[in-house]
Amino acid sequence: MGCVSLACLAKNGHTVIGVDVVSQKNDRINLGKATIIEKDIDELIETYWKEGKISAIQDSKEAVMLTDISIVCVGTPSNVNGHLNLNAIYETAEHIGKALKFKDSFHITVIRSTVLPGTNQKVGEIIAKNSGKIRNVDFAIVSNPEFLREGSAVKDYFNPPITVIGTDNEKASRKVMEMYDGINTSFEQTSIEISELIKYVNNTFHALKVSFANEVGNICKKMDIDSHELMNLFCMDHQLNLSSYYLKPGFAFGGSCLPKDVTAFKTMAHDYYLESPVLNSIMDSNENQKKRALEMVLQNKSKKIGILGLSFKKGTDDLRHSPIVELAEILLGKGCTLMIYDRNVNVSRLSGANKAYIDEHIPHLSKLVVDDLDQVVNKSETVVITHNEPEFKDLNRKYPDVHFIDLVKIKEGGSSGNYEGICW
Ligand SMILES: NC(=O)c1ccc[n+]([C@@H]2O[C@H](COP(=O)([O-])OP(=O)(O)OC[C@H]3O[C@@H](n4cnc5c(N)ncnc54)[C@H](O)[C@@H]3O)[C@@H](O)[C@H]2O)c1
Repeated sequence: MGCVSLACLAKNGHTVIGVDVVSQKNDRINLGKATIIEKDIDELIETYWKEGKISAIQDSKEAVMLTDISIVCVGTPSNVNGHLNLNAIYETAEHIGKALKFKDSFHITVIRSTVLPGTNQKVGEIIAKNSGKIRNVDFAIVSNPEFLREGSAVKDYFNPPITVIGTDNEKASRKVMEMYDGINTSFEQTSIEISELIKYVNNTFHALKVSFANEVGNICKKMDIDSHELMNLFCMDHQLNLSSYYLKPGFAFGGSCLPKDVTAFKTMAHDYYLESPVLNSIMDSNENQKKRALEMVLQNKSKKIGILGLSFKKGTDDLRHSPIVELAEILLGKGCTLMIYDRNVNVSRLSGANKAYIDEHIPHLSKLVVDDLDQVVNKSETVVITHNEPEFKDLNRKYPDVHFIDLVKIKEGGSSGNYEGICW
């Protein structure tokens, strides 16, 4: 990443000094040669080295003194136990701090390496300790994860999907955006912690996509079905498949389709003697989310529970395989008193498989359903919000003595006071 950054920043008009602990890498740069094999990199390094825009040194103090911004892109490998090894990051922070002791002008340190939340904070502390300077007065820290891929690194550098800037310093944020002038991107300013974590979420999702597609492919091969034709069709669906749909943290999935179809698909794979750990883990993960919601309710030790929304999602009266019905059933089994509000569920009008399902799970449902929202909340100690309906939004303010557990992100912000979100 260091070599690509040198080349691309120079192409965008900056004068860039590379610093590496490996002297051979610095020597190569000072001969106008790239340190990696990568499309277009040789020409860029040579061109801008000849123009005097690129050089390298081993002494980070000199580099810090001569520049406004330090871009940290040292390696962050895994330790044998799986933990992230941040030694190079902290060593670099120490060097920057020691150099800043002798510098009067404002200096920005940008962490581009992939690091877990908390790292930028510690980098700030190390720089402050070693420089005697004050963060956000004399220097600032910016988290700016890099999204490029090897093999198309130069192209990716100039066309990132987004550019995430995580900082608590407006001036540094502006400077970093200016540094990327000429790059085709949208700048997204956020907290340092989100900026640090997003790269892990991205890469884990990318890895999940690869493993999912491979498991689907393995099943296709067994069935003599063309996996690439199938996945090409799959990728044409930008409404549900390749979209933000289904990617909001919240409660478990349910209903008459997803659980049944996931179960049938993974069982078919098993019948072909295929190992499909990703497919097999989906229902387990879903059960875990139900357990999590149950534990949150039980933790409160309330005996009077209100449930706002019973069907498997809002806007329907379908109760089949609703995870909320399961939650209600367990709470009843534990001796809780339940009051349920769902304006789509009219017990006397339920019919067919829907009625059969609820008769089996909560046979006396009609005694629990109340069509007055305020009555349900008023008489409850804990209220579980399971549908994202506007009428539920301000209930926690209206009823300060009731504890609210939100499974669907009914409002902005995180858990506080009498309001608790399942994963926020
Ligand atoms: N390779 C990628 O495609 C890619 C993409 C995005 C993000 N990243 C992240 O960027 C970081 C760097 O990745 P990379 O592939 O360029 O790693 P790399 O191992 O190729 O390069 C890291 C460089 O840092 C140097 N270094 C180590 N300690 C140093 C120190 N104290 N001072 C100066 N230099 C030091 C090493 O000698 C090495 O040349 C990692 O956090 C990685 O996860 C990599």
